[in-house]
Amino acid sequence: MNKIRCIGILTSGGDAPGMNAAIRAVTRSAIYNGMKVKGIYRGYKGLITGEIEEFQTQHVSNIIQRGGTILKTARCMEFKTPEGRKLAYDRLVEEGIDALITIGGDGTLTGARLFAQEFNIPIIGLPGTIDNDLYGTDLTIGYDTALNTIMECVDKIRDTATSHDRLFFIEVMGRDAGFLAMNGAIASGAEAAIIPEISLAEEQLSDMIENGFRKSKNSSIVLVAESEVTGGAMGVAERVKNEYPQFDVRVSILGHLQRGGSPSAQDRILATRMGIATVEALLEDQRNVMIGIQNDQIVYVPISKAIKNDKPINQDLLHTLRISSI
Ligand code: F6P
Repeated sequence: MNKIRCIGILTSGGDAPGMNAAIRAVTRSAIYNGMKVKGIYRGYKGLITGEIEEFQTQHVSNIIQRGGTILKTARCMEFKTPEGRKLAYDRLVEEGIDALITIGGDGTLTGARLFAQEFNIPIIGLPGTIDNDLYGTDLTIGYDTALNTIMECVDKIRDTATSHDRLFFIEVMGRDAGFLAMNGAIASGAEAAIIPEISLAEEQLSDMIENGFRKSKNSSIVLVAESEVTGGAMGVAERVKNEYPQFDVRVSILGHLQRGGSPSAQDRILATRMGIATVEALLEDQRNVMIGIQNDQIVYVPISKAIKNDKPINQDLLHTLRISSI
């Protein structure tokens, strides 16, 4: 028997475009199914301090098109301690919240898993991160919008790169995952992507140069995934400047602009489908799962699996990029 009467919803960690669409879908689906919904502001921090408000359907009107998160977000150190999680649990009890929906990335789900284990509270996670690095789901909310932003930025940088015959190293986000760099490179027609999953950055660099890098072109664009493994765009550019002083090298770090903007149609649809699935999962007595999408079907992924396993990058993409950039 399902006894959930009131669900709490929060966004945590780095914001991602589409989080608002997810908040909207969760709220409306909960109300549709006769449950109360409470919005928790500033992630786990607001759960501890009690920044909580009951939501009606109109609280989530006119937000599907907005980037960021109306619930705000934070990275909360206190929730990493058992004392902090106990305070959060006491607040849930005080507010009459029976189940929690958490939207965020790896850190958010890691916190959710610990919390669920310690206090036996049903939690459903939604993968909200531009990095697309959660295992068990083909896509995460925000990834497609960030990829489109990267593509638009690279298109613009290409204008100046071509005019000056320059070699650009463009750093993109991903927190040690190469999805944005690899697919961003394919979508923007870059020459190469340097990503942490494949091999050492040095090898990728020499491979790229041996494969005719700049032999047929006067300007080039290389996307570099932010990571200690790759050394980031700065690190790669320094090495190239030392080894190939003939190249006119420039660096551009796209940074947080990749996290902003109105969500793409794909992210809005994904967030809406996943948001509705969270409430359906609770009605089916699911707990401690992340909603994922595989081959266009909604799936339930145990949170422990989503955060523990590394999501593999499709190696065919490298082949695609190499051939398409000759
Ligand atoms: O995880 C999302 C992400 O945008 C990463 O790609 C990036 O490494 C990180 O967050 C940046 O975090 P912050 O906003 O704390 O600088």
